[in-house]
Amino acid sequence: MAIADDHKKYRAIVKNMLADGGLFENINSAEIHPPYRIKGMMRRDFFGNTAANIISGIDPLLKNGTIIKTDRATTVSKASIAGQNVIIKRYNNQGFLNSLKYTLAGSRAKRVWRETYLLQQLGITTPIALGYFDVLHNGRVIRSYLLNAFCSGPSLHDLLLNSIITLDEWPAINDQVNNLLNILHSKGITHGDIKHTNILYEKGGLVLIDLDSLAIHRSEKKLKRSIEKDRKAYTKKINLDPNEYIKRKKIELNISH
Ligand SMILES: Nc1ncnc2c1ncn2[C@@H]1O[C@H](COP(=O)(O)OP(=O)(O)O)[C@@H](O)[C@H]1O
Ligand SMILES: [Mg+2]
Repeated sequence: MAIADDHKKYRAIVKNMLADGGLFENINSAEIHPPYRIKGMMRRDFFGNTAANIISGIDPLLKNGTIIKTDRATTVSKASIAGQNVIIKRYNNQGFLNSLKYTLAGSRAKRVWRETYLLQQLGITTPIALGYFDVLHNGRVIRSYLLNAFCSGPSLHDLLLNSIITLDEWPAINDQVNNLLNILHSKGITHGDIKHTNILYEKGGLVLIDLDSLAIHRSEKKLKRSIEKDRKAYTKKINLDPNEYIKRKKIELNISH
């Protein structure tokens, strides 16, 4: 089937891109952050020779930044590295079984790292991934980090809630989301978590973020089901009267007017 061929082609594309030793520093070291082993990749054009320092000091960097959200699964913070804004996403330790799963199947950070480069190659805008690394203890991945360039554009949620656009500008943006989904789906890829906060708006275009549930499909059946899910999320969340969305969110956020 064509879709299985695409999947193979995508793997080759990513492998090729990430093989560029001039751009990426491959890390596999027990010296950076003892007693842990660190495995990952960092962009040389961003970190220069500071990658090891950034890795060993990642938690203070994350804590001293602006924490955007934190829950059991992940913590997201906007931090400053070498005078530049960076989004650090920490995939927290979720217990032995999850840890085992991510050790065997690859961590979430690693998967998203690879997917980011694939999307970039396919012409789908997403923030530049600057690096990722897994922290291993006794051979098991216990947590991971993904570092992305900060995108200054507001999310679609902010566009509406902060009145950055007028409501008559919304249908054009809604159409852009529709187009973006069509393009993604035509390539055999689904996002899996379509909502206002996972799409940023910059320079008149869309930037897709939060690729944790992204899937590159090998089976037509699964693709079809996942497209339906993306479409349902689009219909129920994005393709709404923007006034309704604002009203609903204001109530949820307990804003009185
Ligand atoms: N590269 C980025 N540039 C700017 N803001 C970002 C970026 N990545 C994440 N954010 C902000 O952080 C929020 C949470 O990040 P996200 O990856 O969506 O985490 P979660 O899985 O917790 O939803 C986003 O809704 C967005 O506001
Ligand atoms: Mg999100």
